[in-house]
Amino acid sequence: MNSTLKNLLEELEAFGHTNDDSVKDRPRRMLNITHDTGEFLSVLIRIMGAKRVLEIGTSNGYSTLWLADALRTIDGTVKTVEMSKFKIEMATKNFASSGLLEYITQIEGDAGSVLSDAADASFDMIFLDSERSEYVGWWPDLKRVLRNGGLLVVDNATSHAEEMTPFIKLIQADADFVTSLVPLGNGEFLATKEK
Ligand SMILES: C[S@@+](CC[C@H](N)C(=O)[O-])C[C@H]1O[C@@H](n2cnc3c(N)ncnc32)[C@H](O)[C@@H]1O
Repeated sequence: MNSTLKNLLEELEAFGHTNDDSVKDRPRRMLNITHDTGEFLSVLIRIMGAKRVLEIGTSNGYSTLWLADALRTIDGTVKTVEMSKFKIEMATKNFASSGLLEYITQIEGDAGSVLSDAADASFDMIFLDSERSEYVGWWPDLKRVLRNGGLLVVDNATSHAEEMTPFIKLIQADADFVTSLVPLGNGEFLATKEK
């Protein structure tokens, strides 16, 4: 990682903490992943060689930058979906100053529609960090758009364990998936689709 990106990530971490500590209105909070989750996602992409990544929940682009920096090393790309115009604008500015623009496609809209419009097996990895109450409803499309051998990573598996239980149970009951709960950051639930 170059020093420009390192400095930008540090700035965003500081901003995220200050903002989220003082702002009560949820749509105005950044709700970023932790630094160690960023490192973890970066390692996963590199070891998998996951070139086609979908991120659901861009916010101001903090997690996207971790994904994109890993994708830069393997010539992959990330499509990142966000419905809040306010956050899309923040992310656009952050991507412009990151040097990683060519690895990122921003999609403005509802993730449910983006998922239903996506082709079968079109992603190697999906990072899900959005509205948890929607996950169970999105599951058929999440499963369909992930290629065999692909990986779904879901944030907040331990920080919001109760809310996540129905979704996690649904995936654990699916014979096409092998799962693991990684107690890092806010808890990362991993589900890989059988080949
Ligand atoms: C936890 S934040 C994402 C944080 C980001 N991944 C990061 O670590 O920097 C969740 C985001 O999902 C967005 N969101 C919620 N429901 C959505 C939906 N149905 N479609 C697209 N974006 C959605 C919210 O506006 C919010 O910015």
